[in-house]
Amino acid sequence: MEKLSITRPDDWHLHVRNGAMLRTVIAHTAQQFGRAMIMPNLKPPICTVAEALSYREEILQALPKNADFTPLMSLYLTANTTVEDVKAVSSSEFVKAFKLYPAGATTNSDAGVSQLSGIYPILEALEKYDIPLLVHGEVTSAECDIFDRERVFLETQLSDIAQKFPALRIVVEHATTKDAVQFVLAHGPNVAATLTPQHLLYNRNALLVGGIKPHFYCLPILKREPHRQALVAAAVSGNPKFFLGTDSAPHSQALKENHCGCAGCYSAHAALELYAELFEAENALDKLEGFASLYGADFYRLPRNNSTITLTKQEWRVPASYGEAECTVIPLRAGEVLRWQVVAP
Ligand code: DOR
Ligand code: ZN
Repeated sequence: MEKLSITRPDDWHLHVRNGAMLRTVIAHTAQQFGRAMIMPNLKPPICTVAEALSYREEILQALPKNADFTPLMSLYLTANTTVEDVKAVSSSEFVKAFKLYPAGATTNSDAGVSQLSGIYPILEALEKYDIPLLVHGEVTSAECDIFDRERVFLETQLSDIAQKFPALRIVVEHATTKDAVQFVLAHGPNVAATLTPQHLLYNRNALLVGGIKPHFYCLPILKREPHRQALVAAAVSGNPKFFLGTDSAPHSQALKENHCGCAGCYSAHAALELYAELFEAENALDKLEGFASLYGADFYRLPRNNSTITLTKQEWRVPASYGEAECTVIPLRAGEVLRWQVVAP
């Protein structure tokens, strides 16, 4: 049987929610990943180190016994974020980044920033204290076509930020376009991007051909095939500016299969398997470890994990759903057969 052992990977972009949903999903991530960067878009959002540490406690409580998993936290940047909040992160062991959501861009982003120039003093502090800014890079103006929102954000907002704060570490989260790949490549080693399984494996046809497929609806939305190809080329290039971030985002089945369905794909159940499938198809399995396990840790200036994880080429069928009642989650590839499987430790 074909096997692949790599350094234990990390997921640099993850939503786990709280309460019963957290308890439904967290074991999936803990089984595969050594660490994850937990997104702060709860209701209400996680805005201070104290709030992040109490959320982190809830996550630790929800972990299976013997889990080898460290949640790392991000804070939600708002118009009320202060330089003191930034300083507090600079001395925190577990809170490692700020997340910028343009107001209204996605799930629970109402508290996000509507006027980016208003937070320039905070960006200056992030640059000074060398704290990464994680960016949901989409404009939200009603006139802007949803398929153009990432490109326009990079052109009209993020390039200014990168120019004004040249040493600021920026992660273009869940990059979805060739424009985002070019943006990252055009900047220095302080500008990187995470790539999700859904944006690497699917184009917008998956969402819209043969009926509307709500479980492929996420933000930024899936794009045309040439964009997907640019993301794939970046992922398998071995360039350390591109690393793994699933953006696994659980929503209940009822809220996804809805007249106004929520944005988010759930991939934590098979994250590494999905990436392995892609890297294998690209004849680039030798590049998976850098992408999944090394480059993200290096970017965050954290030690690489010192344990390993093994994947085997062993078919298995993804369940039709996980969880129950209002925590029923339909995963990517529900009911389908995957060719790779993570070996239980
Ligand atoms: O599809 C998405 N779901 N994109 C995001 O930016 C947020 C996420 C969520 O929290 O559900
Ligand atoms: Zn996200």
